[in-house]
Amino acid sequence: MKVIPKVCSLKTDDGKFEFSASTKLQTSDDVMRLLLSDMLLSEGKENEVLFSDDTSLGDEDYRLSVGESVEIAASSQRGFLHGLATLKQLIFENLNDDKTKYAKNESISLKNKNRSENSPSVISKIPYCIIEDSPRFAYRGYMLDVSRHFFGVSTIKKILDALWLLKLNVFHLHLCDNQGFRLEIESLPKLHEIGSVRKQTRGDGVELKGFYTKSEIAEIIKYADERGIEVIPEIDMPGHTIAMLAAYPELSCTEKPIEVAERFGIVREILCAGKESVFEFLFKLLDEVAKLFPSKYIHIGGDEAPKYQWEECAACRNAVKKNGLRDMEDLQGYFTNRIIDHLKTLGKTAIVWNESLNSGILDESAVCQYWQDGKVPERVFAAADRGRKTIISKFSPYYLDYPYGMFSLKKTYLFEPLMDGMSTQGAKNIWGIESPLWTEYVPDEEKLFYQTFPRLIAVAESAWTKCEKDFDDFKMRLPLMQRMLDEISVAGASINESLPNPMKGMLKVAKFVVNAVDKEMIKSAINAKKVKETRRTE
Ligand code: ACM
Ligand code: ZN
Repeated sequence: MKVIPKVCSLKTDDGKFEFSASTKLQTSDDVMRLLLSDMLLSEGKENEVLFSDDTSLGDEDYRLSVGESVEIAASSQRGFLHGLATLKQLIFENLNDDKTKYAKNESISLKNKNRSENSPSVISKIPYCIIEDSPRFAYRGYMLDVSRHFFGVSTIKKILDALWLLKLNVFHLHLCDNQGFRLEIESLPKLHEIGSVRKQTRGDGVELKGFYTKSEIAEIIKYADERGIEVIPEIDMPGHTIAMLAAYPELSCTEKPIEVAERFGIVREILCAGKESVFEFLFKLLDEVAKLFPSKYIHIGGDEAPKYQWEECAACRNAVKKNGLRDMEDLQGYFTNRIIDHLKTLGKTAIVWNESLNSGILDESAVCQYWQDGKVPERVFAAADRGRKTIISKFSPYYLDYPYGMFSLKKTYLFEPLMDGMSTQGAKNIWGIESPLWTEYVPDEEKLFYQTFPRLIAVAESAWTKCEKDFDDFKMRLPLMQRMLDEISVAGASINESLPNPMKGMLKVAKFVVNAVDKEMIKSAINAKKVKETRRTE
């Protein structure tokens, strides 16, 4: 069986269930019906797919039994949805007479196929089997950065359809960054009015704008929820906040007017941590975000926050002294803890990027999302060891924005999230894994899907499957999932593109690096250095 993520417990038997246009889906749940709608289910009586409650099963577990009828047993809606995702794959894998087409990689459409034949035709013959399935990790996520490039609701819905098929259960929306603030905030309207517009991107002269209205967010959350997916919003702070500062410059240490960033990279300007008004502003913002998103979690970023301005700011220096802090790193800890305390009053728990551990004073309730390679794991592992919930999003090889020549499909697939050096106790606190897609160089849907798939399929298998991983076996199962993603207009890179030979891979990496190097920024840095040197010699 070619199911992805791989199922570890499978028993087969003689016989085949004939799935036809008149197979009856015994549920009144419209979304369940919708998820199989391209299989043309109607109200016939020939055979049926049954849904039964089994409270002995774990939260997301399911049992799929294919015999004279099909039965999906689960103890939760998510369990039923996972069973349905597997059933859909089995139907697709066992299409009645399309196997040759499929092998030739020709386009197949279930809808057209069925229309052209006598009804009720047998669509698929699924071998009798019993599948018992449950997830390895409770948290299985995908992050999309909608700040650097904005993606509308229709693209998000396609992504959510794919996440459902892959049994991923978290969609992390990175809603704001230096290059754009993408959420309607009624009480602080300049955030979306000013913060969502950038004049151009790296000198291209083309304005880029967009934000989600509240009703669009509600639509995304509903669509995700119907597919068993939780949407977690991220409001990154105190760094990555130029779009916020463009709208409300009084939030920075200098209060100097600034424009939504047109270039990429880490910048000096961040939120001031010494002014009470900044906290009041953030509390107001988070109150609105908390009302909009039902998730118990709000991501508050905390990554890449240079402290140059804090060092020079009287209010920040005063906050260090007044609160008995050692340094500016502690000030970030203090800042983050105040936000976390406010989130607690709203019944929410914070997720933070791993830099937030640097101060050593981070509140123990915060979940750590680990991304940085290098020395950081020791700190991350030690925190997990002491009981901190942790998500693994290690840059290499989970960052989907990097070329396949750097992180090939195989490298991503074979990465073991419970990394060497983690203690048994620490490993128990690994909540799950998540792959982010940062979109500096992802201007459109086509590139988004190209970077994301098939690597996210590999991540999904790592997140879900408990049994031994085998790349050749995964590769053999992969085309079926790729065809299914094609059917929902989520085409990704081909298997060959995702596994480039060393020469091709290196060329792609070189192209990526050349494109990422910002010549204008280098030029201005050289000029600034020259000016400084001239001044020194004067
Ligand atoms: C990050 O990549 N700055 C979380
Ligand atoms: Zn300050």
